[in-house]
Amino acid sequence: MTINIIILIALVALTIGAGWLTWRAVRAKRLWVKVAGGLGAGLLTLILAAVSFAGGKGIAMLYFPGARPATDLKVAGTPEQIARGEYLAGIGCVGCHGQVDAEGNPTESFPLSGGFNIGEAEGFGFIGQIAVENLTPGGKLAGYTDGEIFRAIRHGVNQDGQTLVFMSLLSYGQLSDDDTQALIAYLRSQPAVTTGRPTGDKPNFLGALLFGAGMFPSPTPQLETISAPPAGTTAEYGKYVATYGECRGCHGPDATGVEASSMAPAVPNPRLLVSTLTQEQFFEMMRTGVRPDGSAFPQTMPWKNAAMMTDDDLAALYAYLTAPVK
Ligand code: HEC
Ligand code: HEC
Repeated sequence: MTINIIILIALVALTIGAGWLTWRAVRAKRLWVKVAGGLGAGLLTLILAAVSFAGGKGIAMLYFPGARPATDLKVAGTPEQIARGEYLAGIGCVGCHGQVDAEGNPTESFPLSGGFNIGEAEGFGFIGQIAVENLTPGGKLAGYTDGEIFRAIRHGVNQDGQTLVFMSLLSYGQLSDDDTQALIAYLRSQPAVTTGRPTGDKPNFLGALLFGAGMFPSPTPQLETISAPPAGTTAEYGKYVATYGECRGCHGPDATGVEASSMAPAVPNPRLLVSTLTQEQFFEMMRTGVRPDGSAFPQTMPWKNAAMMTDDDLAALYAYLTAPVK
């Protein structure tokens, strides 16, 4: 953070310097100095100003997002909460936060000891370290209150109220209060494991710049209190399942697909296929990773998460994906 702020100050100083040069050139007596110097220095000033502005905006978004203070929540940690939390973590969190193998690749298995360098693996390591955090009591969460973990999951900010580059872009801020508390109960119930690998995010100035320039989606503000719709095999509850199942995170807020962008390839509309299937065929596809036409889901479609869902959750998901889009 300090280095990024120093870089920003240096850039602002350079912008002022270039601006001053432009002014000098424009007032020069010789015409060629006026034109060439004025244009050159002027252009440089504009570029530096644009970079400083985006960098400054990114730094504000990353380090001063205006997070509200954490509440003094205390999670009871009942066996029911721990079981629910483990179920949710097994569908979502474990895919990234699971322990890593000797090469540092995710194994998608408990405990949630983290250490996967997702930034490097996904080709955006140039924006600084983005490594998955250790969520066992052997990691940094041991020093967090329940309210601070709640705020991290709901609002995507760390203990100091700074934006969590990756978490803030995921949909877990839409989990209900009860489910968020269940996750905290589960995280606290794990054995304390340490990992020798670097964890957490340390965005560099380029990262701040790209954030400020809007190259990443900005974190959406979340509500303070959220309750889940009544559980059942309804489209409404299915939409909620599609939230913790991450389907909406990839397939779009209404699970209608997402067009390709500069940052990511297109993701298809799952409704087109699912609406041609019976519920049995849908279950089969989601639990085997093979579509009815015999083609397997590629790595980019993490069906194994959904394969762990209960029948009721999958049925709700089916109801949601076959219902008209509201
Ligand atoms: C797609 C990958 C991914 C998934 C899925 C994911 N996380 Fe994370 N998580 C990260 C990364 C990367 C970090 C490191 C900080 C950052 O950049 O957001 C992190 C950090 C955290 C932190 C540390 C916050 C802090 O203050 O440093 C918590 C708590 C957390 N995740 C909870 C969860 C929970 C709970 C789930 C499941 C509901 C989950 N995460 C699912 C990638 C993921
Ligand atoms: C990490 C992003 C990601 C997540 C999370 C995700 N999907 Fe996908 N999904 C994809 C991609 C990418 C494809 C396209 C795969 C291909 O190239 O065939 C896909 C394909 C599909 C298809 C097949 C579409 C077709 O026409 O062949 C269905 C159905 C589907 N997903 C449903 C789901 C459901 C349900 C969930 C939540 C449980 C989910 N997906 C979660 C990325 C994702």
